[in-house]
Amino acid sequence: MTGNGALSAEIPAVDLSSDASFKNGFPHGFFTWLRENDPVHWHAATPVSPDGEGFWVVSRYADIMEVLRTPAIYSSDTGGERQGGGTTLKDERAAGKVLNYTDDPHHRVLRGLVNKGFTAQAVGRLGDELRRRANLLIDDFPVGEVFNFVPHFSRELPLQAICIVLGVPQEDRGQLCDWIDHGLEADSPNVMAKEYVVKIRDYARGIIAEKRDDPKDDILSKIVHARLDDEGGRALTDEELTNFFILLFPAGAETTRSAIGGGLRMLIEHPEQLQRLRDDPGMIKGAIEEMLRWMTPSIYKRRTVTQDTELGGRPLKRGDKVTIWEMSANRDSAMFDDPFTFDVARTPNRHISFGFGAHICLGAGLARLEIGIALEELLRRIARFDLHGAAEWIPNNRLLGLRNLPLSVSLKEQNP
Ligand code: HEM
Repeated sequence: MTGNGALSAEIPAVDLSSDASFKNGFPHGFFTWLRENDPVHWHAATPVSPDGEGFWVVSRYADIMEVLRTPAIYSSDTGGERQGGGTTLKDERAAGKVLNYTDDPHHRVLRGLVNKGFTAQAVGRLGDELRRRANLLIDDFPVGEVFNFVPHFSRELPLQAICIVLGVPQEDRGQLCDWIDHGLEADSPNVMAKEYVVKIRDYARGIIAEKRDDPKDDILSKIVHARLDDEGGRALTDEELTNFFILLFPAGAETTRSAIGGGLRMLIEHPEQLQRLRDDPGMIKGAIEEMLRWMTPSIYKRRTVTQDTELGGRPLKRGDKVTIWEMSANRDSAMFDDPFTFDVARTPNRHISFGFGAHICLGAGLARLEIGIALEELLRRIARFDLHGAAEWIPNNRLLGLRNLPLSVSLKEQNP
């Protein structure tokens, strides 16, 4: 990550609509300045701003919570005269048609559909299988050599988990994840470049057709055969179903990998904290939350203003795009003591890495389970971790994607 949050008198403006501004990690210095000097900032359009439009940048925890608590004014669907909307900077035509781009009451109905696959009970059932898989991944570590932890572990475990949840054949996971990675990396006004979304959509169509004909015990089968309560019991259309897949697969595969990989890197850089977790595994629960706060893998969200309003003393107009930066909220000194200190014992830790309110992350329980299992098994079996060079990030302003984390490890003598 760049920056330690130190305030500079002459802060150069950062183009937050450009993925290139995130190639070295999150621009913390700029956001610290914004929180202190211009907390509801008007970001003028730049040559790469989606739809050629400027947007509001909200950087303080309290203001971001106000936005998240008031979905009637800050819509996840659309606002004003817009044809599109959604929660990314670019106006999406899928607004109103997919879970995270809808408002209540339709949102509540859609969420009710997928919820069943993510209850504490449903997620808990995956624990043993994920632990078994985590151990298989550790078995394959090239002990004594430098290797990239991302494909060996932190990308793999969440990917295998989301394949189980969605009933996607495990052998397809690498291809799907490569498409997502390339899509995030490609220079494009969308979060994921169109040509890769098309590939994932084509794949989704095939698997949805399979689940229609031959339903299995997975969440995708349940969604394919579900009926909407609010619209006369109709089934979801193919477009709605592919949108679900395009939301759930990257949501499950991308974010957790950065929390595991980036969080482990912080522990290796703070050996005394790593040792505390080894000495007292009861601290792992708190460590998971601090890893989530520190990494904030899902960096910002966009909302659209539905009526003229005011935020932090600034006048917002109906139809304006408003971006809220969870990563910035999670470094706000008004909310967190020493926010730029990584502390596995931090209490309280009211981070908003999973968002807040109606759209709070549906996969939070699953992500916490995966991160917890990863930590427990890595600490149990690995005697020593060594970093070999800096981490590399996928340049994307919306998702913090870890690409390379060069490590070497030595195993404990007594392993199962
Ligand atoms: C560390 C990992 C993760 C992070 C940091 C994260 C973050 C988030 C955030 C911030 C939101 C709120 C979006 C908004 O307010 O517009 C969200 C929503 C969502 N997340 Fe996650 N997520 C993670 C893992 C997962 C996993 C593993 C899944 C599924 C398998 C998942 C599925 C979803 C879904 C479906 C939504 C939309 C919920 C709604 O609109 O009602 N996420 N996530």
